[in-house]
Amino acid sequence: MNFNIATIPGDGIGPDIIEQTILVLNKLGEKYGHSFNFTEVLGGGVAIDKTGEPLPKETIEICKKSDAVLLGAVGGPKWDNLPGDKRPEQALLGLRGELGLFANLRPALLHKPLKDACPLKPEIIGDSLDILVVRELTGGIYFGERGRRNGKYGEEAYDTEAYSVKEVERIARVGFEAATKRNKKVTSVDKANILESSRLWRSVIEEVAKDYPEVEVNHMYVDNASMQLIRNPKQFDVIITSNMFGDILSDEASMLTGSIGMLPSASLAEGSFGLYEPIHGSAPDIAGQNKANPIATILSAAMMLRYSFNLEEEALALENAVTKVLEEDYRTGDIMSEGMKLVGTKEMGELIINALQ
Ligand code: IPM
Ligand code: MG
Repeated sequence: MNFNIATIPGDGIGPDIIEQTILVLNKLGEKYGHSFNFTEVLGGGVAIDKTGEPLPKETIEICKKSDAVLLGAVGGPKWDNLPGDKRPEQALLGLRGELGLFANLRPALLHKPLKDACPLKPEIIGDSLDILVVRELTGGIYFGERGRRNGKYGEEAYDTEAYSVKEVERIARVGFEAATKRNKKVTSVDKANILESSRLWRSVIEEVAKDYPEVEVNHMYVDNASMQLIRNPKQFDVIITSNMFGDILSDEASMLTGSIGMLPSASLAEGSFGLYEPIHGSAPDIAGQNKANPIATILSAAMMLRYSFNLEEEALALENAVTKVLEEDYRTGDIMSEGMKLVGTKEMGELIINALQ
């Protein structure tokens, strides 16, 4: 089969890790008889430098015409002092909004060979951890009305959290569907003791839950959820939550795996279209030095094979290749530990390609 992929290497280590991911996908395509056509487009700081905009119109158009988007990372100190709407991060928010990417899947998977990287005690974590955070990505306070006004104490700023029944329902369905293929447990995280938007959220989750009698559902306030993730992370299977709570809890969950350089993500629209990117940032300090860990991006490509192209066998082959390389003790600097074999970005890409055969 033939697939068109728009790539947005972006800033910092973005180009390093996208380069390896393209090589890996080409090899996989060769092996399974698919052809992946890549079109590179601008986004983030590099787009600001070249066009004055973090997300040029052309980028959005090419992404819309593609079957999926693969993104490296955006941002860096060079652009940190620009006004809010001109910052590289706007490329991400713009893509999410323009492409309708409402469902953000962030798996926090502790790979067995890396289990010592988990900062929690072994008796809490056992020898593995597998949590899927399903974050609503195009609504809530990220996209609500915001501004400045004259308030009781003079100038004030405000941001608003708003959720419609429709928005909660569609993210809930993504979460429940995922749970049916996993351990059949959903934890919906909200702040329903305070927020009206959370009370609506909770009632919609209850409604959707009726369609999934085989899935156990519970509700948790976000403050408690952040504590439970540390106290007893194994109680979680799928966490469904709002845009901002998901932003915060997914960083916390990722830390349980000890290595943000390993975690992929998928941002899905209605249908099969999606944008795939590593969870980590652009790490400008090691950009272009053959030091970055390409695994999170390569695992994001595996999610792309699974969710956008419906190529489960190929996705598994890629994930198994990554596991094999880790079991053979190869590590990039970010996940290096004593007795392991240190390799660079390119060598890690080559090792994964070799493990594919
Ligand atoms: C993330 C990031 C983004 C977010 C930023 C960079 C806009 O933190 O993807 O989690 O807050 O959503
Ligand atoms: Mg975040």
